[in-house]
Amino acid sequence: MKIESIVGYLQEQMGMNPETVGFDTMKKAVYTAMLANDINELDEYYRLIQQDSLALQGLIDAVVIPETSFFRDKKPFQVLKNNLRHLYRTLCDEGEPLKILSVPSSTGEEPYSIAMTCLDAGLNYGEFEIHACDISQRVLDVARRGQYSEYSFRGGHTTYQQRYFTTKGHFFQIDEQLRASVNFFQGNLIGDQFMGQVEKGFHIVFCRNLLIYFDKPTKCKAISVIESLLHDDGLLVVGHADTAILPSLGYKPFSDQFSFTYVKSHNQQKAVVTTTNNHVLVEKGKQVMEALVAARTDIAASSPAIIKHNEETVPSNSSIADVVQKIEALLLKKDFSQATTCCQTLMEKTGDKSTVHHYLGHIAFLQDEMQVAEKQFKKAVYLQPNNEEALCFLAKISKKQGDEAAALRYQQRADRIKARMSSAQENL
Ligand SMILES: C[S@@+](CC[C@H](N)C(=O)[O-])C[C@H]1O[C@@H](n2cnc3c(N)ncnc32)[C@H](O)[C@@H]1O
Repeated sequence: MKIESIVGYLQEQMGMNPETVGFDTMKKAVYTAMLANDINELDEYYRLIQQDSLALQGLIDAVVIPETSFFRDKKPFQVLKNNLRHLYRTLCDEGEPLKILSVPSSTGEEPYSIAMTCLDAGLNYGEFEIHACDISQRVLDVARRGQYSEYSFRGGHTTYQQRYFTTKGHFFQIDEQLRASVNFFQGNLIGDQFMGQVEKGFHIVFCRNLLIYFDKPTKCKAISVIESLLHDDGLLVVGHADTAILPSLGYKPFSDQFSFTYVKSHNQQKAVVTTTNNHVLVEKGKQVMEALVAARTDIAASSPAIIKHNEETVPSNSSIADVVQKIEALLLKKDFSQATTCCQTLMEKTGDKSTVHHYLGHIAFLQDEMQVAEKQFKKAVYLQPNNEEALCFLAKISKKQGDEAAALRYQQRADRIKARMSSAQENL
């Protein structure tokens, strides 16, 4: 048996496309999970994950990319805040709460940001209901605990930190009532059981930074699942990296002025609010659309010029692999400015921020900007603790900074990872 069969099985189960996630990342996750189960034979491990849902869960936990933060990308939350009361009035029946789904929720920063936005928009507890789902039990455990480090607030938002969290040493504990306002559950958006696990009729669904990891048939399946969960006039918010699939699903221009688009689906007209870079708000009906005209203007104004610049550097339809290849070539040519621009493109295309931080670290290292390099490599390692190469760079940086003890620690950690991986591969 080849490891590709296990990677293929994993793709079937959770939808993750090895081409976007990276074959090596998925293979590493398999080897690491085999080690954790004390199994040396691929056949034996394959049988285990097919028969034992806990073992499969362990592998899924190892492969997921839980990158998230409070109020990530800001704009969707601003648009939501400006429109929530209108949505509540127009979509909800008397006494009915506004029902919101966050899938995938990862470690909880997104659904808790939605809850804080609801409160800030003037809704009271009981007037909104938030359900949050993720495939990984490990990230859900973190979400339910509601305890975060400063890193989860890397987009700023310290006022929210002051208003809704209490400091516990180096951590921030979310307010108990806010924590209880989010119902977390484990589920696989593309799994056969998903529809049976969730109620229908969500007024708003957030599905950000997941579709990017799926191949096209899986994206279509995910969108159709979400559509059937949405209230007829509901709203879907997707991440900017997820938007590419929507035109190919038949979304057509509705109004040039606001780049609204619509599609006939399930015999009903659906309106979509598109943006060029930030995020997309998809509506299932036209009722809510007018409220979002102003929001769309907001979003258009926020398009950073850098996007156009990126498109000139690598064609907009380039795959993630193409962009990575381009960055590597630019590094060899020592064209750091173009390489940095390509990193921004990569950041827009992928949820795998660890790769982006890795390359930004490499660029800074080659320019002798050790503090920047150190910061970027640390972020890369935080997001992908098995990143042996980043650890080697951190060892070199510590050495250059005269911190021999730290250099040794990083190098030993890198050596341990290398030894673990090669012994796992030799045993197969
Ligand atoms: C990059 S995070 C996105 C979190 C959040 N939506 C955001 O944008 O900040 C991706 C999450 O998708 C989850 N995931 C991967 N496959 C999934 C699936 N088939 N169903 C549900 N969640 C999945 C992973 O566990 C991971 O936590």
